[in-house]
Amino acid sequence: MRDILVAGNWKMNGSNAANAELVDGILAGLPASDSVHLLICPPFPYLAAVAEKVTGTRLALGAQNVSQHESGAYTGEVAPSMLRDTGCSHVIIGHSERRAMFGETSDIVAAKFLSAQDAGLVPVMCVGETLEQRESGQTEVVIDEQLGAVIDAAGIAAFGDAIIAYEPVWAIGTGKTASPEQAQDVHRHIRAALAEKDKDIAAGVQILYGGSVKGDNASGLFAMPDIDGGLIGGASLKAADFLAIANAALSPG
Ligand code: 13P
Repeated sequence: MRDILVAGNWKMNGSNAANAELVDGILAGLPASDSVHLLICPPFPYLAAVAEKVTGTRLALGAQNVSQHESGAYTGEVAPSMLRDTGCSHVIIGHSERRAMFGETSDIVAAKFLSAQDAGLVPVMCVGETLEQRESGQTEVVIDEQLGAVIDAAGIAAFGDAIIAYEPVWAIGTGKTASPEQAQDVHRHIRAALAEKDKDIAAGVQILYGGSVKGDNASGLFAMPDIDGGLIGGASLKAADFLAIANAALSPG
C-alpha cells in the first residue's frame, strides 16, 4: 500500500501574519497517522519563516517552482540548492499555471525535475490537459507527452524518488472537480505508462490528484486505487479546510 500525501500549493497568497496563523492551525490538527503525510508549499519569500515553524514536525515544506540552473547570472531565479538550504524537501515542477503563463515547455520541466533531484529535492511533477484537449479526446496524448519528456530526460528510475500530480486544467480553481472515476482513469493510465518501463517503480510512485479538491469530495477521490492523495490550491489556505482533506485521507470511501 502506498502512503497518502496531502500537499498544499498556496500559489501567490499569504503574508507573514496569515502564514503564521495557517501553519499554527495545521500543526495543531495534524492527523495522528503514519501513512498520511502533509506538505505545504508557500511562496519563496516565506519559506525560511515557515521552515522555522515546521522543522521537527510532521509537516513537510516545499517550494512552488525552481530554476533548472545551479547558480550564476539568472536574475530573479531560485536554485534547487537554495531550497534545500532553506529547509525544503519537495518542489512543485511544471504546474499548469507555469506552463500556460510563464512559457514552461515539457523540456524545461524535465530540466527542472533533474536539477531538483540532483539537489536532493523530491519533485512533485504536474501533468494535465485543458478542457479543449479533453473534449477532443487528447487527454492521454497530452499526459504521455508531458510525462514522456521527463522519463526521457531523467530515466524511469528517477520516479523512485518523485511524485506525480494529475491536475486537469479545467478543474483548477473552477469548483469543477474531476469525478473520482474520471480522475482514476487518468491515474491508471499514468501508472500503466510507467509500468511499461518498470513495474516496481510504477507500483510505488505516488500519484496525487489536484483540481478543486475540498473536504467534501476528497474521500471519494482518495478511495480510488490509483489516487494517492491531493495537491490542493484554494482549500489549502485555511487550516480547517486543509485538515478536513487530510482527515478524509484517514477514512477514504
Ligand atoms: P484548486 O484546489 O484551487 O483548484 O487548485 C489546484 C491546484 O492548482 C493545486 O496545484
